Amino acid sequence: MASLKTAAFELKTHCQRYDGRVVIVTGAAQGLGRVIARRVAEEGASVLLADVQEARVQRTAEILAKETGARMIGVGGDLSELGVADAVVKRALDEFGRVDTLVNNAAALIRMRLMEFTEELMQKAVDWNVWNTLRACRAVLPPMIKQNYGRIVNIGGEAWRVGVPYHTLLAGVGKGSMVGLTATLAGEVAQQGITVNCVSPGALESEADGDPEPNRNVGLGRDPSWTPKAVLDDLNALGASRAIALGRLAHPTEVAAAVAFFGSPEASYVTGQHLGVSGGLAMI
Ligand SMILES: NC(=O)c1ccc[n+]([C@@H]2O[C@H](COP(=O)([O-])OP(=O)(O)OC[C@H]3O[C@@H](n4cnc5c(N)ncnc54)[C@H](O)[C@@H]3O)[C@@H](O)[C@H]2O)c1
Repeated sequence: MASLKTAAFELKTHCQRYDGRVVIVTGAAQGLGRVIARRVAEEGASVLLADVQEARVQRTAEILAKETGARMIGVGGDLSELGVADAVVKRALDEFGRVDTLVNNAAALIRMRLMEFTEELMQKAVDWNVWNTLRACRAVLPPMIKQNYGRIVNIGGEAWRVGVPYHTLLAGVGKGSMVGLTATLAGEVAQQGITVNCVSPGALESEADGDPEPNRNVGLGRDPSWTPKAVLDDLNALGASRAIALGRLAHPTEVAAAVAFFGSPEASYVTGQHLGVSGGLAMI
């Protein structure tokens, strides 16, 4: 395996903002979602990890439960399909009795020119980058409204803001709409004790997720044909020439720290906001 380029965030958290709280993290079998699940568990949360990779998400939940001592369950299913997000929320309520925080992290990293998408893949890219989030939000709102408390944190991305090529579906449609959804849904549920915010990574070393056997090229998000080698080479060259002010990729723990704030009770007066955690790739 190639060696990792980034180092885990050095400062261990002393926060315990999630004692007694229940968090659902989507796309948590691997990558950033796995690291977010671990971070909120370290702060005291019980966590439901949801992912279309059923076996892998269950394995991740077992490993993280052992590592953190937290209560964790892994639930399989494609969140873009009708009923799956509702079943995930029901499972969290059955197991843990409430849902305080939803982190919409699941996405399918399909990067190619718009002209090169087949009709079928274009539709799937919208399903896996827009519909999964919409369905998860709808499913989680009823219990959050009932308890008059909730935190929704959407994982965006900066590629749409800085015009990175090959990202029309993933970022232009997927992440651009995520920011709009964040603001409008925040306005809709503000009076019901629910906040909605968005955290956008720039370039992220998501393989540095702490898994003893990181998953590089399998799973819904990592079909190698969705980011052809020529595209990857071009993106790497662009990354080298483009201005990431901090001059390196993010380690997932650096993004998870921002997510943990927005998802916690502490972020009580912040809603409808978008925070880039992108090393200065986009400055405002
Ligand atoms: N990797 C980066 O450089 C980068 C940059 C900016 C933003 N992001 C965003 O960060 C988030 C995590 O990215 P990552 O690099 O860890 O990706 P990843 O591909 O490693 O993980 C995404 C996970 O989501 C799951 N998933 C995808 N669609 C799903 C669905 N419909 N239902 C259930 N599970 C589903 C996949 O199986 C996978 O486990 C994504 O929202 C991504 O767009 C990543």
